[in-house]
Amino acid sequence: MAKNDATPVAIDSIDTTAIDQNRRRFLIATATVVGATGIAAWAIPFIKSMEADKAVAAEGAPVDVDVSKLEPGQLITAQWRHRPIWILHRQKWMLDTLPKNKPRLKDPNSTAAQQPDKNFINGDYRALRKDIFVAVAICTHLQCVPNYAPKPKSVNSWWPGGFHCPCHGSMYDFSARVFDGSPAPLNIPIPPYYWKKDTLVRIGETKDGKYQNWVPSIW
Ligand code: FES
Repeated sequence: MAKNDATPVAIDSIDTTAIDQNRRRFLIATATVVGATGIAAWAIPFIKSMEADKAVAAEGAPVDVDVSKLEPGQLITAQWRHRPIWILHRQKWMLDTLPKNKPRLKDPNSTAAQQPDKNFINGDYRALRKDIFVAVAICTHLQCVPNYAPKPKSVNSWWPGGFHCPCHGSMYDFSARVFDGSPAPLNIPIPPYYWKKDTLVRIGETKDGKYQNWVPSIW
């Protein structure tokens, strides 16, 4: 405040009768610059703080996603660390396909899964809640974004529904586990997340505030 207040006070208190016009113009110009500098000096920390917030969000701050309007069978894509994150509302028929897929999967139990901790997500459903599936929407082959392909037989004669990569044809089930015959070597990563409430999922950390710096090895 002191620098901003100084500008009008300095001009008003000048005895303009004692100086010539050139001197007066110089003083006004100088005071204007000082005033602008004062404002800029005040604004810079604020701007820097905004930039820092954006940078933190981009580099890994958790994001909250409201799923209250997510219809059964619907997929939405959120953003976390500049990466797409799938949130899929799985229907019962989708869940029913998962145990049956095992014989066709490269790693049905996700022993090499990309996730914050080997105990974080387990089993056929790879989710904290069976009905809502959360995953990093990136193919583990060369990092294309797979398409959502829920319709059975839409990819091949045995296709049970899941995700299909448009780049080189990798196939994943509704838990993003990779099928045999795909160039992708791994199941799709599961990010750290937890349910803040029934309709609000926080992506980017677990409930105990851990794994904020976690990244899958494919990044
Ligand atoms: S990037 Fe997905 S199959 Fe190659």
